[in-house]
Amino acid sequence: MQKTLFSGIQPSGQLTIGNYIGAMKQFPELQYDYDSYFCIVDYHAITVPQDRLKLRDQTRSLAALYLACGIDPEKSTLFIQSEVSAHVELSWMLQTIASIGELERMTQFKDKASGKESVPAGLLTYPPLMAADILLYNTDIVPVGDDQKQHLELTRNLAERFNKRYNDIFTIPDIRVQEVGARIMSLQDPTKKMSKSDENQKASIYMLDDLKRVEKKIKSAVTDSEGIVEYDKENKPGISNLLDIYAAFSDQSVSELVTTYQGKGYGEFKTDLAETVVSALKPIQERYHELYESEELDEILDRGAEKAEKVANKTVKKAKKAMGIGRVHLKR
Ligand code: TYM
Repeated sequence: MQKTLFSGIQPSGQLTIGNYIGAMKQFPELQYDYDSYFCIVDYHAITVPQDRLKLRDQTRSLAALYLACGIDPEKSTLFIQSEVSAHVELSWMLQTIASIGELERMTQFKDKASGKESVPAGLLTYPPLMAADILLYNTDIVPVGDDQKQHLELTRNLAERFNKRYNDIFTIPDIRVQEVGARIMSLQDPTKKMSKSDENQKASIYMLDDLKRVEKKIKSAVTDSEGIVEYDKENKPGISNLLDIYAAFSDQSVSELVTTYQGKGYGEFKTDLAETVVSALKPIQERYHELYESEELDEILDRGAEKAEKVANKTVKKAKKAMGIGRVHLKR
């Protein structure tokens, strides 16, 4: 039997090339080897304030982008988290076995909660919802970027705890992280992760950015004053990040690129990188615009939710039974 894959992306802003390189880019190849579920996790997105109209638009937009990047709806299940209520149900059950201490230790929680006078409870209980996403589908592998490692570890712990305490119903998932590009950094501060929610627009390249702007952003990316194309994340984080991006969008490895640009300056390197990124984004953007406007997109999402729901409901039923949720039926 084919193994199962699950991954999710939040519609919490415009998708960046960090999301693409770290996660989405691997999905099209993997979908032929796994029974794959790709989810737009809108319930996760509301753990921080969202504009209602923008959130809806970003949800549709993300669905269209998944397809534009190569998700085949005949092969994979593409769906919106809020359209399959089992996610919230299992999330609640998992919250009852998660401890506040372990949730407070999540670095993402600490980052998002720090400095806030009032922290939404949903920020704390975000990881059990993510665990529910994954465990509902008997998932074997979860392809994600480096920043999700801790959440995946917690998912595994919660699954093991549940299996031991109640009944052995959950598959323990493995994480799959890319060797190159698992953590793409900000173009303006290469010691910080590139993020959808960065307020500085120049720090991120968005998948749907105007292509002229992409070129400008790459040319104004922060590097160093040495002018030598070398891969050294610690001492030369800017150029190393650009090398990771270049390798992800071309068929050359980082070391091949370093050899190619030996004795050449950052100017030439950045011009070629911009050309490579622009020519990769152009066809994706074209397909995206067609898909966003199409009724086909709604049909795909409807079918996806229907298919996901069947599998997810079965798991919820098992989990309820294991925990003793529901009533005894008297036989007549
Ligand atoms: P999200 O929406 O922040 O990011 C989506 C995916 O992109 C990866 N990523 C990056 N990879 C490389 N460099 C970066 N700068 C970068 N920024 C983001 C993320 O690791 C992720 O793979 N909690 C998840 C969403 C989620 C999920 C799930 C993922 C909810 N349920 C179940 C997998 C399985 C998140 O916030 O991703």
